[in-house]
Amino acid sequence: MCPLTQVLAEIPLGATLYDIGCGAGVPMHLALRFRQARMVRGSDISSNAIAAATSFARHGERFQAMCLPAEEQPALSGFDVVVLIDVLHHVPPAVQQDFLRSIVRRMDRGARLVLLDIDRDAFARRCCNQHHDLLLSREWVHPMRADDVRVILDHAGLQSEEPQRFKTLWYGHYLIAGTRL
Ligand SMILES: C[S@@+](CC[C@H](N)C(=O)[O-])C[C@H]1O[C@@H](n2cnc3c(N)ncnc32)[C@H](O)[C@@H]1O
Repeated sequence: MCPLTQVLAEIPLGATLYDIGCGAGVPMHLALRFRQARMVRGSDISSNAIAAATSFARHGERFQAMCLPAEEQPALSGFDVVVLIDVLHHVPPAVQQDFLRSIVRRMDRGARLVLLDIDRDAFARRCCNQHHDLLLSREWVHPMRADDVRVILDHAGLQSEEPQRFKTLWYGHYLIAGTRL
C-alpha cells in the first residue's frame, strides 16, 4: 500500500537502478517497463523474497536480484539511482541512522536516492501502517520522522529535496529524493 507511481516519477528514463530491500522485485519490474531502466539490481535479506523476484524475471541480464544478510552492505557504485521503498521501518531503531549514512556514503557522486517510508508524523495513518505490518509480517515496525531522516541523509552527503507526503487509503507515506554531492 505505497505510492509506487511517485517513486517511478523520480527515476530518470534509461537509468541504472539499485533497489535496497527489493522484496519480490515489483518496483524493479516497473522501472524496466515504465522507465526503460538500462539495468536493475536489487538485494534483500529475505531469501523467499529473492526467490519470488527471480521467478518472475524475464529481462535477462538487465534484472539481477540477490539475497544479502543485513550486515552485508551492497556496492552501490555505478548506479544512477538507489531506491529504498518501505524498508527503513523494518530496520531496528538502534541501527537506522548508520543504515542511512552508509547508503549515502556508498553512492556515486551525482547519483540520486529515492526513499519512501511510513510517515511517522501522521499519527493515525502510522498506526494503520504498523498494525498492517503486525498482521501481515508479525513485526512491530519503527517508522522515523521524515525531517529526522532528511537531516541524517544530508549530513552524510546528500542534497535532499523537500519531503513529499502521500495518503493512500488509510496509510501515510513520505518520499525524500536527493542527489549525492
Ligand atoms: C515492505 S517490504 C518492501 C519490498 C519492496 N521494497 C517493495 O516496495 O515492493 C520490506 C522489505 O525490506 C526487507 N528488509 C528489511 N530489512 C532489510 C535490510 N536491513 N536490508 C535489506 N532489506 C531489508 C524485507 O525483507 C522486505 O522484503
